Amino acid sequence: MSQDPLSTRLCRALQIDVPIICFTHCREVAAAAHRAGAFPVLGEALRSMEEIERDVRWLRDRVGDQFGVDLVLPARSPREGSAAELAADIPEPQREFANRIERKFNVPAPLGDVELHQWGGNNQKVARDQIQILLDEKVPVIATGLGAPDFLFDEAAERGIKLVALVGSTRQAVRQIERGADMVVAQGYDAAGHTGGVGTFSLVPEIVERAGDIPVIAAGGITTGRHLAAALCLGAAGVWTGTVWLTSEESDVDPIMKKRILDSAGEDTTRTNTISGKTMRVLRFPWADEWEHPEAPPVLKSPYQMILTSKYLQGANDARRADLMTEAVGQGVSFVQEALPVADIVDDLAGQARQTLNSLVG
Ligand SMILES: Cc1cc2nc3c(=O)[nH]c(=O)nc-3n(C[C@H](O)[C@H](O)[C@H](O)COP(=O)(O)O)c2cc1C
Repeated sequence: MSQDPLSTRLCRALQIDVPIICFTHCREVAAAAHRAGAFPVLGEALRSMEEIERDVRWLRDRVGDQFGVDLVLPARSPREGSAAELAADIPEPQREFANRIERKFNVPAPLGDVELHQWGGNNQKVARDQIQILLDEKVPVIATGLGAPDFLFDEAAERGIKLVALVGSTRQAVRQIERGADMVVAQGYDAAGHTGGVGTFSLVPEIVERAGDIPVIAAGGITTGRHLAAALCLGAAGVWTGTVWLTSEESDVDPIMKKRILDSAGEDTTRTNTISGKTMRVLRFPWADEWEHPEAPPVLKSPYQMILTSKYLQGANDARRADLMTEAVGQGVSFVQEALPVADIVDDLAGQARQTLNSLVG
């Protein structure tokens, strides 16, 4: 019998049926991805310590030890200071420009107080506390975007926790491998969320050449089985996907946003630093467009820009104003056209990839 072309070393390393990692913020999507034979990684960067502990336990009850948690831990966040304290340091020109955008587009005020997320980018103490929960809970896989502090590598290794580093350049990949990452996610320009300037098709083989025995997982723009097949041909051991799950039946994304995503194509996304201060790919929306104007003041650095954006985003989301809202979405969104159960998405990705790969050799 011929071998399954999808049975890669990633499947063996993570004990999964198909080499697909599902990145999601939604617990139900994560659990469904596990049931379908993929590997779920829950994005918890913006969650409080209590929420992280709750989510880890919820997921572990359903999937055992086959899951990961992702945090965003920028290397250069302030040492201390609450989000409210940092907010006081936002300069007047940027504050005034944000007010102007809110007036111009009639952005409703948030229903409650503006929620200033405590995340690893705000201060290093929050990052350390978030990490500690994952270490204490012995989360089987920890994934980190935008870098990770040194102690995490040692402490994860001591506990047998696998460390997965998301990188956007070959230089970053080499650095994270030298520091002890067990796997790297080569995340191309096409990707949703924080992303660098090199496309997936160029980045993946470049990192594969430098990674030695460390499995490289391709990310960015992967929304069909043909993308999965191509990623394996580029030398990746599997794929890491985000956009494709946003419109799934189990997903908790606002139905208004789901509809916009289903109707969107790659060119409806933009790569902007105006949300967090670091470049990220999202659906086009007025806030990002306004900061492009020549009279706009300079975009603030992380975490200040994210604090500044919070009021606009919360107002838009609370009022469910589709014209003002946005979401992190990758360029492969053109192929996301139907709201399907997670299991069908996994089957479609795997089925088409097998067919594509078998047709190459058959
Ligand atoms: C809504 C959304 C939010 C994201 N948030 C994070 C995050 O908090 N941490 C992170 O490491 N990656 C985040 N990402 C990026 C994903 O981990 C992944 O690299 C990306 O979605 C892959 O590209 P794709 O969307 O084209 O599949 C996010 C992606 C999406 C779609």
